[in-house]
Amino acid sequence: MSRSVLVTGGAGFIGSHCVIELIKDGFEVVIIDNWTNSSKECIPRLEQIAGKKITALTGDICDKQQIEKIFESFNFFAVLHLAAFKAVGESCRKPIEYFMNNVYGSLNVLEAMKKYRVKNFVFSSSCTVYGKPEYLPLDEKHPSNNDHITNPYGRSKFMVENILKDLYSSDKSWNIVILRYFNPVGAHESGLIGEDPRGEPTNLMPFISQVAVGRRSEVNIFGSDYDTKDGTGVRDYIHIFDLARGHSLAMAKLEQNPGLKIYNLGTGKGYSVLEMIRTFEKVTGLDIPKRFVPRRAGDVPSIYAISDLAEKELGWKATKNLEDMCRDMWNWQSKNPNGFECV
Ligand code: WQD
Repeated sequence: MSRSVLVTGGAGFIGSHCVIELIKDGFEVVIIDNWTNSSKECIPRLEQIAGKKITALTGDICDKQQIEKIFESFNFFAVLHLAAFKAVGESCRKPIEYFMNNVYGSLNVLEAMKKYRVKNFVFSSSCTVYGKPEYLPLDEKHPSNNDHITNPYGRSKFMVENILKDLYSSDKSWNIVILRYFNPVGAHESGLIGEDPRGEPTNLMPFISQVAVGRRSEVNIFGSDYDTKDGTGVRDYIHIFDLARGHSLAMAKLEQNPGLKIYNLGTGKGYSVLEMIRTFEKVTGLDIPKRFVPRRAGDVPSIYAISDLAEKELGWKATKNLEDMCRDMWNWQSKNPNGFECV
């Protein structure tokens, strides 16, 4: 039986780390990426870590022909669908682009899968589908309610989740695992791959690390008047290694024909922006200049998860702590001050 997996967005921050874990677990991987938020330089480094050649193709999930051509050339067991735009703040400014890429692009992939009878699907969803939490920590039973979602990014993920539920209701021969993850940070222990966003980082951790290497002057802290431990936003940060492990275990779950499953991938701990900055300073010995600015549109005050279901049904549990996340992020960024751009 084929164990070949198509990884959309496979050269991105999350995709590259998932590719390493999938290969480690015996899957063959084909990457498609449109390189809008990733670098081709990542591929030889993945091959160095994996110790084998990796097929990486240029493909845009919004280009039906490109996607179908790839399905014609391979006999896939499954698709790990990661390709998406994912910045909460940016999505509030560019809703049409987010719905086209994240929703229409996902429909394109699913249509090609149906045509080529590939019915195993792991979907990169997000804690943002929960909207403003009614209780914390969040479990999968918490309502994911369109009216509560605070930004187009989260709504695009919510829409795809509902497409998947309708697809499964129409045809129970599909196996679908939806992974709702929280805030992925850190980098591979080798320092060869890591987070390297195009342009100004929209997420906290890459912004902090770019300040640390002198590419940015200071961290803007979005809001200091939230009802949280120190007034700054609280999130469930998860090491990218742990997140990638969860994806590979989800892929293995598909081989058991589980039907449709939804799992949180989080640590169960919430850390504030100030705690993140202080931990990064402690681990690196650096001082990170910072200033408080008004809240960012689309942000919720606090969100963190219970992931007991993933532990019970996938055998998954986060293993790394905040210091590991900061240490590995700095190891990557200090070795690659300009990211994947050759020095
Ligand atoms: C974290 C905290 C900001 C930048 C992310 C991903 C999204 C999803 C959920 C997977 C917030 C504050 C940020 C900065 C700041 N993950 N912040 N200054 O918005 O929680 O969403 O995780 O699907 O894909 O984007 O992450 O890193 O942008 O913000 O103060 O320069 O840091 O207000 O409290 P967010 P983030």
